[in-house]
Amino acid sequence: MNDHLMNTYAALPVVFERGEGAWLWDESGKRYLDAIAGLGGCALGHAHPEVTRVIADQAGKLLHTANLVRIPWQEKLGDALAKITGMDRVFVANSGTEAIECALKITRIIGHQRGFSNPGVIVMENSFHGRSLAALSATGNRKVQAGFEPLVGGFLRVPFANADAVEKIASNSNEVAAVLVEPIQGEAGIRVPETGYLKALRAICDEQGWLLIFDEIQSGLCRTGKWYAHQHEEVQPDILTTAKALANGVPIGACVARGAAADAFSPGRHGSTFGGNPLASRTACTVLNIMQSEDLNAHVEQVSARIFGAFRARLQDNPCVNDIRGRGLMIGIELDRDVNHLKTVALDQGLLLNITRNNVIRLLPPLIIDEDQADQIVDTVCNLIETLE
Ligand SMILES: Cc1ncc(COP(=O)(O)O)c(C=O)c1O
Repeated sequence: MNDHLMNTYAALPVVFERGEGAWLWDESGKRYLDAIAGLGGCALGHAHPEVTRVIADQAGKLLHTANLVRIPWQEKLGDALAKITGMDRVFVANSGTEAIECALKITRIIGHQRGFSNPGVIVMENSFHGRSLAALSATGNRKVQAGFEPLVGGFLRVPFANADAVEKIASNSNEVAAVLVEPIQGEAGIRVPETGYLKALRAICDEQGWLLIFDEIQSGLCRTGKWYAHQHEEVQPDILTTAKALANGVPIGACVARGAAADAFSPGRHGSTFGGNPLASRTACTVLNIMQSEDLNAHVEQVSARIFGAFRARLQDNPCVNDIRGRGLMIGIELDRDVNHLKTVALDQGLLLNITRNNVIRLLPPLIIDEDQADQIVDTVCNLIETLE
């Protein structure tokens, strides 16, 4: 650890010098296959030629002006996100956490408009929404919250994937303004709810006049084979948060809204110095264009079927494996024990992967991986798991 950096991450003992597609090279020239893509931030892989060209071009023209003036690339990004999501308006921020903050602020405004003095938000057990005080208060993980009390109030917690629990609150509480949910929980170990859950939440929110907020910061942008994971169920939220892969590694986040939620703000109510600057916005427009023109969703579906098929064939009878789950290229393999040590063992073998909840191998590879790379990920992960027996 560096003496002058705050002690926030237990970083792996490796320094990457460059990347290309799904490959990374360390300082000694050793090559690694990247199965985590900067925690989902580099869906198009490293050093994508068109993304690199656009970043260099924009850096040579104009990086930043602040939102005191119009930013045409931000307006184009707003148009593109509205089209993809079927929503009305976008606020562009710098991270997923900031997108969540924006969503929560909209919820408070709408709640106050409805006459609530303490507008509440129903949130899920085991959820993750970020590390700011409001986002960690919404998060359903005591480890993330411990030591940061007093937490931001107004959150009512229910079990994930259980619409009845939400319905129960509907009959008991009268100051609820919104439901916030990840359509697929990421940090919780890639938890996919049953089909029908999101629709049931939509029905409750419609009946109660609550906003439905989908946090798709991890599950969005082709990760599951659709632009956004909720589109598998054809359910429309009122607010959607998106970030990570949106500018393929350039920091960005966005809160997308429709209806009253889209019109909640007026000038001076929310803002950001860097949010939606020309560099980040133009990069995001380029990323969305590439995802569309390369039909990345179809590619994800195809590679996903191959990976899940191979994992199930090789691991389904393995006594250490509790579950193989996920959607698209958002993959979790739950083991019957703590497997944190596998991160460094995998690294030795040239594979970068992630462990969440101590016992779930989480794979979020770049969405552009080819079949050989997919096979190599499966092979290395299965070999690692087979050494556990
Ligand atoms: C579902 C979800 N929400 C919010 C966040 C926070 O995003 P960021 O780290 O960009 O602030 C994350 C990050 O992992 C996430 O997975």
